[in-house]
Amino acid sequence: MTIETSGKHPIPPGFGDALVQPGDYARMYAESISDPDGFWGREGRRLDWIHPYSRVKNTDFAMGQVSVKWFEDGILNASVNCIDRHLPGRANQAAIIFEPDDPDQPARHITYAELSEKVNRFANVLLSQGVMRGDRVVIYLPMIPEAAYAMLACARIGAIHSIVFAGFSPDALANRINDSGAKLVITADTAPRGGRKTALKSNTDAALLHCSDRVRCLVVRHTGDQTSWIDGRDVDVLAMMEQVSPDCPPRPMNAEDPLFILYTSGSTGKPKGVVHSTAGYLLYAAMTHQYVFDYKDGDIFWCTADVGWVTGHSYIVYGPLANGATTLMFEGVPTWPDAGRFWAVCEKHGVNQFYTAPTAIRALMGQGPEWVEKHDLSSLRVLGTVGEPINPEAWVWYDRHVGKGRCPIVDTWWQTETGGHMITSLPGAIEAKPGSATLPFFGVRPVVLDASSGAVQEGDGVEGVLCIADSWPGQMRTVWGDHQRFMETYFQQYPGYYFTGDGCRRDEDGYYWITGRVDDVINVSGHRMGTAEVESALVAHEKVAEAAVVGYPHPLKGQGIYAYVTLMNGVEPSDELRADLEKWVRTEIGPIAKPDLIQWAPGLPKTRSGKIMRRILRKIAEDDFGALGDISTLADPGVVDQLIENRMNRH
Ligand code: WTA
Repeated sequence: MTIETSGKHPIPPGFGDALVQPGDYARMYAESISDPDGFWGREGRRLDWIHPYSRVKNTDFAMGQVSVKWFEDGILNASVNCIDRHLPGRANQAAIIFEPDDPDQPARHITYAELSEKVNRFANVLLSQGVMRGDRVVIYLPMIPEAAYAMLACARIGAIHSIVFAGFSPDALANRINDSGAKLVITADTAPRGGRKTALKSNTDAALLHCSDRVRCLVVRHTGDQTSWIDGRDVDVLAMMEQVSPDCPPRPMNAEDPLFILYTSGSTGKPKGVVHSTAGYLLYAAMTHQYVFDYKDGDIFWCTADVGWVTGHSYIVYGPLANGATTLMFEGVPTWPDAGRFWAVCEKHGVNQFYTAPTAIRALMGQGPEWVEKHDLSSLRVLGTVGEPINPEAWVWYDRHVGKGRCPIVDTWWQTETGGHMITSLPGAIEAKPGSATLPFFGVRPVVLDASSGAVQEGDGVEGVLCIADSWPGQMRTVWGDHQRFMETYFQQYPGYYFTGDGCRRDEDGYYWITGRVDDVINVSGHRMGTAEVESALVAHEKVAEAAVVGYPHPLKGQGIYAYVTLMNGVEPSDELRADLEKWVRTEIGPIAKPDLIQWAPGLPKTRSGKIMRRILRKIAEDDFGALGDISTLADPGVVDQLIENRMNRH
């Protein structure tokens, strides 16, 4: 199938009352850029303030002094904005609809009144454990309402949460507990997903062996499965919630106080703790949620991400709840008990906006449209995608079979670091092109730079690396505990600009097309991973001397993980060892990091100074070794033929 991708896809009928109309976009965008103080000064009033701000934007991208502050003298509390202020009008409206893994278990509708009580009680439990303003709390929970309670309870008392995706291993959890200096970790007994259970409490026990023995552990008894218990360290949080007061006064917080830390992969070294602020982040999450999904009062909004990723933070919890929305939280997976589960859930709860990742769309597309057709999807109004570029085939399938041609698709480009959507279409205002994220959101100034010279590429029809020329409220503020690393990672390569790490093209219509990462970060099923992390896990194995990891195109995952492994002298390659290494990486990082292909490499292509030439390894992994380019600088060009000979990904 060839798909016409250059033309614009007209906005379907029925969007005449969209929040942003075609004429509005250009006008509002222009104002947001020419007068950021005026624009954001007004938008900032979306939030409820304890003390209003007098200063709006105070930001500096100059290397050596990077500083990002918004609404800096304002005082507010994020949980009040997500809960208390909605109580007068929405106490009995569902805040969260919880759809459990097992479709035979009843769904739960948690009203704003109930959410308020749970969060207040949860906050009092945290206080009773000695958690104070500014303390870090690690959350290692499945997709259950308690994850949202825990986040908002931290926000209520001014503690900084850091969620660790429940698919991460004990080692990865321990590293994040230690790096953030957390006082307490919140977990659950076990987590059912797709009919299988993950032993979260025992993973946490294993992690805590590597942490200070002062770290407390709150356990949500979710399934009731038996777990080990250490008296004095482990606390049954649900039981304790019954004993504490249902009122916990919100702590007044400064606009710039950190709301949370979320660890994410970069091109080098260990994962970075991305720090987001209270006011700027919350405002940006709320505003993008409303405009990008054309969210209106009474709509049922469903983002299928996990709360362990930024998408879950911004578009399951903070954005929707700040807007007084009903947000759906799904514990399960798209393909269990069958490939129609997403659509069954949409039908059951009358979902109006549905937001997922291209990898999920491709997986479901492979099961055939009959799984979609079984369900009544007439409630759907807007569809969204995030996480990686969407291939036009998947876009067209999504449009045709899920949206029935009636639902605009918003392809939202953004990052953990950006807090919310940066380049995206708007349902009633911007016509989509399949595969393009289209145009910048309000206040966002994308620039395309020449990768090597850093020269700004003016005009349309240009290609290069994507940078952002000025700050927006949702921008990360620093790397936890390492502001220098923050500046070096994002502002050093192209001085004066925030460097995204992505390549992009701006077409003749000024539309942006993200072409993927230009650094050593790979995107596997929409999960971001540093190749360096997988390499360091591999070389930590006693039989591995050296490893190089690259991405390669994978039909379902977007990118797969291809590992070249050099074994220690005298160690023979075998299928058992391969399986052992796969298992090893799963335990070191988590199942998402397991290499798809492992090639035994007696030698790796290196420059004379000993630098591994990844460009060559990428080409071989892509099965595209005809165009290897100049290999004359290699110390031993002979290894290349050997690697090609034994390549794993043959077409
Ligand atoms: C990629 C996820 C193309 C991109 C919100 C970015 C995308 C990285 C898109 C961030 C999209 C995300 N089109 N690429 N719509 N959305 N990406 O931090 O490479 O997990 O830099 O944030 O995902 O991944 P992260």
